Amino acid sequence: MNLQITTPVEAENTPDIPERAVLSPFSKMLFGDARRVPLKPGDADMVVTSPPYWLKRDYGVEGQIGQETTANAFVQSLLDCMENWKSVIPKWGSVFINIGDTYHRGSLANTPGRLEIAAQDAGWTVRNRIIWVKDAGMPDPAKDRLKSRHEYIIHFTPQRRDYYYDQFGYAEKYGNGTGPSDVWQIGLRRDTSNHLAPYPVELVDRLLSLACPEQVCTCCGKPRERIVKRTNKLDGGRPQAKRAMELAEEHGLTPAHIMAIQATGISDAGKAMRVQTGTGRNSASVKVLAAEAKAVLGGYFREFTFAKRETIGWTDCGCKAPFRPGIVLDPFMGTGTTLRAAGDIGRSAIGIDLAQKSESKRPTRSGGTR
Ligand SMILES: C[S@@+](CC[C@H](N)C(=O)[O-])C[C@H]1O[C@@H](n2cnc3c(N)ncnc32)[C@H](O)[C@@H]1O
Repeated sequence: MNLQITTPVEAENTPDIPERAVLSPFSKMLFGDARRVPLKPGDADMVVTSPPYWLKRDYGVEGQIGQETTANAFVQSLLDCMENWKSVIPKWGSVFINIGDTYHRGSLANTPGRLEIAAQDAGWTVRNRIIWVKDAGMPDPAKDRLKSRHEYIIHFTPQRRDYYYDQFGYAEKYGNGTGPSDVWQIGLRRDTSNHLAPYPVELVDRLLSLACPEQVCTCCGKPRERIVKRTNKLDGGRPQAKRAMELAEEHGLTPAHIMAIQATGISDAGKAMRVQTGTGRNSASVKVLAAEAKAVLGGYFREFTFAKRETIGWTDCGCKAPFRPGIVLDPFMGTGTTLRAAGDIGRSAIGIDLAQKSESKRPTRSGGTR
């Protein structure tokens, strides 16, 4: 997103930047139809939800989605929902839909694919198709095909770019040191009580970490974004990095030398000239520093181009109003997993469901995992 950074708030607050109040998170459960949520624009920031899958569980409630006679009619129901949610979330918001496919007359109905195409045609951007790999699933007696052990989480955005996204924060939590991927291995929950279709808290936590801001301004509605800076620290766990740091210390390299290495990049020739920011475009003094560093580090020079990044603060729109936590909406709330996951990390949540809490949600017809 392209937010104006007026007063980056550093970890240590400077005396001239007064601390802005931060409101407490809330959690709300409402009764209603996901196609017509009882909310107004700005009531939620993003959506994380798992609708009934086509022709799977019959929730026995008037107006339910999932029992349409054709796959296309089912997809149209979901599109109607998305159109409605679009009027509630801001332009920088996201919609994540957890969906699995259905075997119908021997063939996969391809509902996830149909939804992606229909949503694209309706103007949505499809940013990711995350594959949720499950370690187990419902018993499946078929002997002429493999058991299905995955579902999808499709990431839709109202606009092509400039949506709120905290890949850095997500990677710190789930990235395991590498670029985070779109394949997620998450076990199914065992504590399913009388409701057999909850999704795992971790799945929601991942999505909230990615796209539900920690803080949003109550005046202008802008989310605060992480300000990340490359440091001169290396991962001391790697022998090469350890040796690089020893050499740098032995030879008295300064932070300016390290910054010069990072500005120069791995190489100053060939493809690197085209793909690395700063390569070949540095000032003479930076080139001198980089050359000095290279002379003492030799092949270890490149280690400093992998230096760790750190959060040094958050953007601040400059308004005087308090911040509030980001708000996630789950219009197919079910047992309320989304609300619990949001509460765990200090986000607000609104859950909506057609079924009243007191009603039994036991399926009247069993057809699979949803
Ligand atoms: C797959 S479950 C959601 C499970 C939930 N993610 C959880 O972890 O418990 C789908 C839910 O959608 C609800 N539902 C079905 N049609 C609906 C509609 N038109 N509007 C709102 N909720 C609906 C059902 O009552 C059911 O609770």
